[in-house]
Amino acid sequence: MCGIVGAVAQRDVADILLEGLRRLEYRGYDSAGVAIINANGELQRERRTGKVSELADAVAQNPLQGGTGIAHTRWATHGEPNERNAHPHVSGDHIAVVHNGIIENHETLRTFLQAEGFVFTSDTDTEVIAHLVSLELKSSDSLLVAVQKAVARLEGAYGMVVMDCNDTERLVVARSGSPLVIGLGIGEHFIASDQLALFPVTRRFMFLEEGDVAEVTRTQVTVLDASGNPVERDARESDVEHDAGDKGPYRHYMLKEIHEQPEAIANTLEGRLGEHQLNLDILGKEGQEILNKTRAVQIVACGTSYHAAMVARYWFEELAGIPCRVEIASEFRYRKFFVPDDCLFVTISQSGETADTLAALKLAKELGYMASLSICNVPGSSMVRESDIALMTRAGAEIGVASTKAFTTQLTALLMLVTAIGRHTGMTPEQESHVVSSLRNLPHILKNTLALSDDIEAMAEAFADKHHSLFLGRGSQYPIAMEGALKLKEISYIHAEAYAAGELKHGPLALIDNDMPVIVVAPNNDLLEKLKSNMEEVRARGGQLFVFADKHAKLKNGEGVSVLPVEEAPEIIAPILYTIPLQLLSYYVAIIKGTDVDQPRNLAKSVTVE
Ligand code: G6P
Repeated sequence: MCGIVGAVAQRDVADILLEGLRRLEYRGYDSAGVAIINANGELQRERRTGKVSELADAVAQNPLQGGTGIAHTRWATHGEPNERNAHPHVSGDHIAVVHNGIIENHETLRTFLQAEGFVFTSDTDTEVIAHLVSLELKSSDSLLVAVQKAVARLEGAYGMVVMDCNDTERLVVARSGSPLVIGLGIGEHFIASDQLALFPVTRRFMFLEEGDVAEVTRTQVTVLDASGNPVERDARESDVEHDAGDKGPYRHYMLKEIHEQPEAIANTLEGRLGEHQLNLDILGKEGQEILNKTRAVQIVACGTSYHAAMVARYWFEELAGIPCRVEIASEFRYRKFFVPDDCLFVTISQSGETADTLAALKLAKELGYMASLSICNVPGSSMVRESDIALMTRAGAEIGVASTKAFTTQLTALLMLVTAIGRHTGMTPEQESHVVSSLRNLPHILKNTLALSDDIEAMAEAFADKHHSLFLGRGSQYPIAMEGALKLKEISYIHAEAYAAGELKHGPLALIDNDMPVIVVAPNNDLLEKLKSNMEEVRARGGQLFVFADKHAKLKNGEGVSVLPVEEAPEIIAPILYTIPLQLLSYYVAIIKGTDVDQPRNLAKSVTVE
């Protein structure tokens, strides 16, 4: 949510900052800005509403020169998305700040700073940081000390970079609840809210920890921890394999990421499957001990990751035979909870930085869950670092705001986790062997399923003039219907709801007419006959059915019914398989609607504010 880039170098940094913003744009894209100190020690600033390309055009017209600068792409929280609210925010003519997160006590601070004579020029919470630093600087020896004093007065979450034109070769950064990395160059250093932004200039990174404040010059990085003591933070080469900032032959990142799923899942599985058994070394010795003891599971997540959790609930109870509760993180963190004995607390997160999920994890530690495990896609993220153990999904960087490969790799990792725990709670070797062989075939089955792309593109035409839609599924396909509905609303802006098909008669049937497409996921399982009855209920009321059905489900095209046969697959992996056609359907409907597929309106990839 929002993106930050900073640089201290001898060369001009405008292009580096703008390229960094382009790479982070998926995190927020309603306005963008850059500030650079010129050779005379003066602050030059450009800000624009809209995309980074608007800002880049402005900078092309009015080049900014200088080696020290900061930049930001915004997803508005406080203050509407316009130029005066775009970052960097300044105090006087010398302090500039970029900030991710939310300052919760900004109103109190604003009143205090106004009384001190500061004049505000934006509606943002961030501007208080600029003025606070300015105020503290009057009684401090250095920018570093001033930032330390300023952050001590802030409540809320921040990742920030502060620049002072009176001290031109230094940036000061601070992190609490919002990630920041320092990119290490030779005779130059960089800062970003995500390492991806800096791949064109470095692959060596230092990850700041919660409460750190650091001073970054061209040749040195000095880090102070939350108590103000100097600390060493490890520098390491990035293990992100390829530069995901490139779309390759695909029109959108989302389409690229949909097609990457067979490979992404193969990566998730690599080294973790034996011939008939899981390779249980996957979580190390400590992990083994935790899994041996687990007799209940509590999963917490947001958005698409929450849907993965809902599928896992079926698996945990059916295969491992242990109770599994699932809760949306923003709900979990604000209600009273009963903690069962030997209960493993599991967070699921693509980014590992989602504010509500992180807060839930912190709460879980206080509540006394047996241990915490994170299923996550970003090594070194806050969630991974703050959990006892982590199972990485290895999907590679996901850029499209609508999550695709992160979801199917989460499901893959969850099925492995269920099996690893189920071994100790009654799953038989035969059941384990079935899961292992099903998972092994999964990448191949998904590849064949992607071949449905052209048929789904044709099917999408029927949605061009629709405003509402209904997704139906039963059992573990119900959360898949929810995920399908989420995808469609996120990127095509068509109102979409998901129902457990058996609930149809308790309300949603009232909505059915020929303007309401009904999308059904219908694998060949015990619930198929019941699902067919639900479809009859829709047809009898003139509803238009679009059915993704197992080849052997004996469902046929007809008046008001379009059936798309899907590859046969073991039932246990069917939720992963049926996700693919729903992703493709949303994508092609969005293309017809002409929306901004990779950066849908009002959304952000990583929600690091509450
Ligand atoms: C945002 C994204 C979703 C994602 C959710 C949770 O809303 O747009 O795609 O599912 O955050 O993110 P996480 O990184 O925790 O999985």
